[in-house]
Amino acid sequence: MWAADTFRYESRVIFLRMQAAQRMQLLHGALTEDRYSMSVFDETQAQAVDALSARFAGIPGPLLPLLRAVQDELGFIPSEAIPRIAEALNLSRAEVYGVVSFYHYFRQHAPGRHVVQLCRAEACQAMNSESTEAHAKNSLGIDYHGTSADGQFTLEAAYCLGNCAAGPSVMIDNKLYGRVTPERLDQILADWRTRQ
Ligand code: FES
Repeated sequence: MWAADTFRYESRVIFLRMQAAQRMQLLHGALTEDRYSMSVFDETQAQAVDALSARFAGIPGPLLPLLRAVQDELGFIPSEAIPRIAEALNLSRAEVYGVVSFYHYFRQHAPGRHVVQLCRAEACQAMNSESTEAHAKNSLGIDYHGTSADGQFTLEAAYCLGNCAAGPSVMIDNKLYGRVTPERLDQILADWRTRQ
């Protein structure tokens, strides 16, 4: 029991660190919107996976940072990337897939054009984020990890976006919004729909 609790706690810490690292990359413009439009594993993507694998293979504990880098680059972890990563890190495919499937953070399918992260942490909950969350799911017609029928938005949960004083907080790609009511969310999504 203790070991299970410890494992869950450590997994949660890793997850939060990965989210924080992703936000830092977003803030520094390391990610581009074009990554969301890729859905077919092609030679360019294969080369990107191989280059990242080579870069991370020599560091201690390379799997999680490598998977995160692949997702940052491609928008998700394509199934075709798993054997390449396994070979580069001298792991079994099952080991790599086990980590990918364990963490909700890792997407196994190409996301929509934009990723909408809704904060579900305590400070935002205290500001009635649940109503914004329910409205987002209803208006987009999806649950978490789903993509709207028009391919525009993938909905994901976040657990603090670093904007606690202005909750409910929402992040769309690299843009952070505070005090997002259901009505304001409609306006924001309408704006993003018009972007190229
Ligand atoms: S709790 Fe929502 S931004 Fe921190």
